[in-house]
Amino acid sequence: MMSTTAESVVDKRLEEKVALITGGASGIGESTARLFLKHGAKVLIADVQDELGQSLCKELGTPDIVTYIHCDVTCETDVQNAVDLAVSRYAKLDIMFNNAAIASDGDSFKKVLDVNVVGGFLGAKHAARVMVPAQKGCILFTASHAIVGLAKSLSVELGGYGIRVNCISPHAVATPLLLNWFVTSDKRKVEEIILRNGVLKGTILEAEDIAQAALFLASDEAKYVSGINLPVDGAYTVNNQMEPLLLNRCCLLQWGFRG
Ligand SMILES: NC(=O)c1ccc[n+]([C@@H]2O[C@H](COP(=O)([O-])OP(=O)(O)OC[C@H]3O[C@@H](n4cnc5c(N)ncnc54)[C@H](O)[C@@H]3O)[C@@H](O)[C@H]2O)c1
Repeated sequence: MMSTTAESVVDKRLEEKVALITGGASGIGESTARLFLKHGAKVLIADVQDELGQSLCKELGTPDIVTYIHCDVTCETDVQNAVDLAVSRYAKLDIMFNNAAIASDGDSFKKVLDVNVVGGFLGAKHAARVMVPAQKGCILFTASHAIVGLAKSLSVELGGYGIRVNCISPHAVATPLLLNWFVTSDKRKVEEIILRNGVLKGTILEAEDIAQAALFLASDEAKYVSGINLPVDGAYTVNNQMEPLLLNRCCLLQWGFRG
């Protein structure tokens, strides 16, 4: 009996904290919402998939601990309202997880930048608006290449206000985003491809693993960790140093810069 109590105290790594998770209705965001709630946080799920977000919230708990808000991260007013709702409903904002994104399909480059980069920037901007006066806070991103730079420069800019900024770079995870990209609903098939292409064998990366990384970075255990890009990729990027170069070259060729 006593050990159960002790365990539950140790287990609650985000007690008293308030978190806003963009893209929280699905995939990595959903897993993170579940894990943060389990660890005692109050969670605001912000997404554009209203039905999914609302039913998830109903499943996860009552509005005193979890709330859904429609928030298109490309719309500054939506982002502003989401941050303001966190403060009005739960009194503060401790953790801003900028996680919403769409997959690049080659012909909607501007839209991808708007959601994945500008959306993250707006999330950080409005989180900072309430975190700066509080002189503390934690801003997290799930990263693409552009976001890594943004997170690192924000960590320097906001460090003086006690705000930590970090990002997580996952290897492929078979979430709805990736299944859509592969144009399939066969999760097992996609996981097989990931496993085959990964460096680390014998295990498969799941959304929950990224949520665990977010939990660490959001918790007080990471109180002096800021400005890092945490790869959760089983050494994939270590092994594939050429990959970003090749990707950049493909993009350049696609835009017509040859030579
Ligand atoms: N799954 C992967 O393999 C992988 C790999 C590297 C990075 N990531 C990153 O992880 C994050 C989460 O992706 P996921 O794999 O869980 O995908 P997902 O599709 O399961 O979740 C993304 C969520 O973002 C929401 N969203 C999309 N556009 C939005 C907008 N304009 N405003 C608000 N919400 C919006 C979607 O509705 C969805 O609920 C993304 O930032 C993605 O780039 C994923």
